[in-house]
Amino acid sequence: MSFGRQRWALFISGTGSNLHATIDLRDHVDIALVVSSKHQAPGLLKAKRAGIPTLVLEPKINWDLLHQELIKHRVQRIFLLGFMKLLPEDFVRRWEGQMLNVHPSLLPLHPGLKSIEKALIKKDPVGVTVHEVIHEMDAGEKIFQKRIHPVPSGMPLESVEQLVHLLEHRLVRESVRKWKIVPT
Ligand code: GRF
Repeated sequence: MSFGRQRWALFISGTGSNLHATIDLRDHVDIALVVSSKHQAPGLLKAKRAGIPTLVLEPKINWDLLHQELIKHRVQRIFLLGFMKLLPEDFVRRWEGQMLNVHPSLLPLHPGLKSIEKALIKKDPVGVTVHEVIHEMDAGEKIFQKRIHPVPSGMPLESVEQLVHLLEHRLVRESVRKWKIVPT
């Protein structure tokens, strides 16, 4: 039995280190489109250098147009990789079951922003979650979740963030390689 290559759209807003980690996998997955909510997102440059089509969203996003662009690029899966815009319910409904998000905490602990910092302040466990996207933010079914253990006490936030990003890259790669692979 062989497995079809999934066509992914990767949504970013910033640095793009998770995008970069996914670009490394181009022997296994098709990255059909990189969508950015920001013109100046460094991740866009990474996509362009890799020859991947890119789309920059206007400040006032036309979600229908975006949906049509995704269909035009024959996108089958969407991965939110640090995409800092809330998705409207209609858009989520259209892509439900085909969309993942990576989040730097052990959800349901610390959804939203500054999750790593909040976990350290609360002395909560630190880790990463890859989950399906539903309308409620950072709340869909967990696909992969892993704890960073131990986090040496007193470790500076920046160092913990680096550990978290490395773990994110691993779980993001595992997700695009394994999630819902359709036998052909
Ligand atoms: C990651 O920590 C991700 O979990 C969060 O935003 C950050 C994006 O990082 N949602 P990068 O742009 O992929 O480096």
